[in-house]
Amino acid sequence: MKLINVVGARPNFMKIAPIIAALTRYNNSSNKKIEHLLVHTGQHYDEAMSKLFFDDLGIPKPEIDLEVGSATHAVQTAEIMRKFEEVCLENKPTHVLVVGDVNSTIACALVATKLGIKVIHVEAGLRSFDRTMPEEINRILTDSISDYLFITEKSGEDNLINEGVSKDKIFIVGNVMIDTMLKHREKAKSSKLLVKFGLKSNTNSNEAKGYCTLTLHRPSNVDDRETFTGIMDAVHNISQSLPVIFPVHLRTRKKIAEFRMENYFNNAGNGKITKPGIYCIDPIGYLDFLSLTSNSKLVLTDSGGIQEETTVLGVPCVTIRENTERPVTVTDGTNVIAGTKKENIIESSRTFLEGGGDKRDKKIPPLWDGNAAGRIIKILADKEA
Ligand code: UD1
Repeated sequence: MKLINVVGARPNFMKIAPIIAALTRYNNSSNKKIEHLLVHTGQHYDEAMSKLFFDDLGIPKPEIDLEVGSATHAVQTAEIMRKFEEVCLENKPTHVLVVGDVNSTIACALVATKLGIKVIHVEAGLRSFDRTMPEEINRILTDSISDYLFITEKSGEDNLINEGVSKDKIFIVGNVMIDTMLKHREKAKSSKLLVKFGLKSNTNSNEAKGYCTLTLHRPSNVDDRETFTGIMDAVHNISQSLPVIFPVHLRTRKKIAEFRMENYFNNAGNGKITKPGIYCIDPIGYLDFLSLTSNSKLVLTDSGGIQEETTVLGVPCVTIRENTERPVTVTDGTNVIAGTKKENIIESSRTFLEGGGDKRDKKIPPLWDGNAAGRIIKILADKEA
């Protein structure tokens, strides 16, 4: 078996890290070896969106960087395909492993399958049933051409079977992103971020001051001025009770400037956060972000993965979207789907922050135990190595 692992955008890095670690463990303990190399498409390339994560998560430097950068969907996807085909022709892998649902995922899966290379999709089967989301298209297409579909939650199996995927390709293995989170939870405690903003007295303290965390980057939320301002009006309201820390994605940063929305934000600079308000900060690395979310009273987000992380951390999560492709975070976890209307975001947040809080019974979804990557490599080794 000769495997190419693919990463491209920020949410891929925490998913590939445990897979590479599990491959290394397998190769160190078995007579058979799985040869593997890592390709970075360069979809995300800024230090804060990429290199910080390699450093924090100890991911080895990619053997190959396609350096595609930002472009329209078609140009970015095409450019990845063009360059990745050359990589496959030269390196002749037997398998290509892709994670998640970004443009790099579908681009590399499509190249591989047309060259007769088996495709392994990690985090398969998730569906929001909203085809206006670019990720939903990437998920459906990638799953339809994958040979191994590793899934995180039961809904994934149901969705794939409904789409006619043969059951023998589907494996419920748990959640590789949670593997990474559990592994780094202890280390994240030494992050200095909260001390820097005066939200903790020192890194050893277990007590943080009350605050919320916000992340927003989905085109449907930030590319439309009316939607974006409605969301920010809601967050402003919440921020009058608890300060809101907002690590700003680069595409969101551009929209804030374009829509002249700077007036929503307070400036923390390097100073301490003492007043109510919304505080923008630059994108942060994995360990700082884990420290930030772990200590939050509430997380407001339009991300997919953060819904899962907060479920395991036991931190309330208000999802600023009309749907989720990760329903187990609502049925078993701490997530509420608030939609994008101002009143609904405020109401969902207040339910968490005031009175008795969230009364639902909560549990960690099955197999979200830190061992998903090990299961994936075991299945692949048993069948292919
Ligand atoms: C991508 C994924 C999305 C994921 C998100 C996490 C797709 C379709 N979308 O969205 O699923 O949730 O990553 O971050 O693959 N930019 C930079 N530097 C970078 C990267 C991006 O400046 O390193 C800016 C550019 O202006 C770029 C814009 O962000 O045009 C969008 O980047 P892109 O990779 O196209 O999509 P994301 O919104 O990051």
